[in-house]
Amino acid sequence: MYKNISLSSKAQGLILVPIHSETAGKSPRWPKSARAHDGCQNAVSAGTFMAEAGATFTVGTTHMLVGLGPVEGFSTDRMRTVGAKVGRALDKISSSAIAIDNSASWGSDADAKRAMGGAFAEGISLGTWRFDALDGTATKREARKAPLTLWADDAAVRDGFAHGLIIADGVNTARRIGATPPNIANPAWIAAESKKIARDGKMKVRVIDYAQARKLGMGGLTSVGQGSAIKPCIVVIEWTPRKISARNKSDHLVLVGKTVTYDTGGYSLKVNNGMKGMKYDKCGGAAVMGAMQTIAALKVPMRVTGILAVAENMVSNDSYRPDDIIKLHNGITVEVTNTDAEGRLVLADALSWACDTMKPSAIVDIATLTGGVGVALGHFCAGYFCNQPNLAKQVEDSATSTGELVWRLPLWPAHQEFMRSQHADILNSNPLRAAHPIQGAAFLSYFVKPEIPWAHLDIAAMATAESANEVTGGGPTGWGVRLLVDMVEQRS
Ligand code: BES
Ligand code: MN
Ligand code: ZN
Repeated sequence: MYKNISLSSKAQGLILVPIHSETAGKSPRWPKSARAHDGCQNAVSAGTFMAEAGATFTVGTTHMLVGLGPVEGFSTDRMRTVGAKVGRALDKISSSAIAIDNSASWGSDADAKRAMGGAFAEGISLGTWRFDALDGTATKREARKAPLTLWADDAAVRDGFAHGLIIADGVNTARRIGATPPNIANPAWIAAESKKIARDGKMKVRVIDYAQARKLGMGGLTSVGQGSAIKPCIVVIEWTPRKISARNKSDHLVLVGKTVTYDTGGYSLKVNNGMKGMKYDKCGGAAVMGAMQTIAALKVPMRVTGILAVAENMVSNDSYRPDDIIKLHNGITVEVTNTDAEGRLVLADALSWACDTMKPSAIVDIATLTGGVGVALGHFCAGYFCNQPNLAKQVEDSATSTGELVWRLPLWPAHQEFMRSQHADILNSNPLRAAHPIQGAAFLSYFVKPEIPWAHLDIAAMATAESANEVTGGGPTGWGVRLLVDMVEQRS
């Protein structure tokens, strides 16, 4: 595994020759460096190398053929997968520098080449990352060793490399936070990590602690977190660029992440192994942390604030109960029917507080909110909700360009009415177990001022992957970092 991956300042190392599968078995139009090398043509003529997407073939010590798959359907998504597979192949042979030959063929204009270069570099960095902070004395894995440098013979592709590496660092930050176990990654740890990210990115950070949250009337956050020895908090990370362009002057995007460091379900306890993996219930917040890191590193010319609603949902003498009626930040009272519907309670206070104090021009929240979203949509896309067409279009455009796909679900007045309670204003979950993802969104809608454009992303089925994911493999995916960063870049 590589220690770090960076852009090289000159052409050096293993020459990578990417080719499409149509030319396998024939005679590709070789770039100059490969034309002189018989081994390249031999591998292709002999059918040893068929150029499937991500396939690699080393020729001597100087060249590596890289398959891009067919020309038909070639995309940045496929390029990201190619990058991941190439990265793992390079790691295996301990290559420390690569130079892409003929990279101008990656696109017809600079933007297309930049996008392809970005996807390739993202793939390399995401595909070779792993969580090794807790490798012990019996580990079979080698420690991180050499760095890897990337070069391409086209300047726009190199630009893309630089951009893609910064994005991937943010995604890998989110994955690292997701993977960190709950005995370490408790609410205090999240606050400390946020401070590190803020310091590195020259961002402001502040923490609303438990006592302050109670004073501010955040009864959702404080009820969910009160059962844990490590009390809940709100973390605010603010990116204010030195230079804000005129058109971004009044734009302020607020990102809110569900950061439940562990979700036992509380007294509505999770049963039958449903608890295992609930360290990933902080992945919405982890995506916001990763996005903020990247936004600062890219120095995007607009204001962005990340807010983390951080709590651990535990069982103890101090825990909240089903039947509790609590008052949230905007004065709405909530009857708790299910302590396992905790994410919406912590988010609600963060959303209401953000609407009141942040003058947001738009809010996007991201949360591992409901198992039901995976029942409805599988692990193919996140479910999302939005109260305003322009923002919805931005979410969908960024989903398309990053490959982090979304599907819009309905949120109607009838859904909001479905959340009404007999003894309080609303329920946190309707015992008629219908439309769970929509219930979550409907609940949250009570805490966002209707005039503020707002999108809610339910990523419960996307935050982790079975090994099916070709880029990140199994475990935390960092889903959402790329989408959120792209939204910010598109707006600014
Ligand atoms: N954190 C869970 C949602 C979740 C489930 C994420 C599975 C990832 C995998 C959330 O807090 C939860 O428990 N939701 C309940 C909602 C219900 C009690 C209304 C659920 O999905 O069952
Ligand atoms: Mn829960
Ligand atoms: Zn949860």
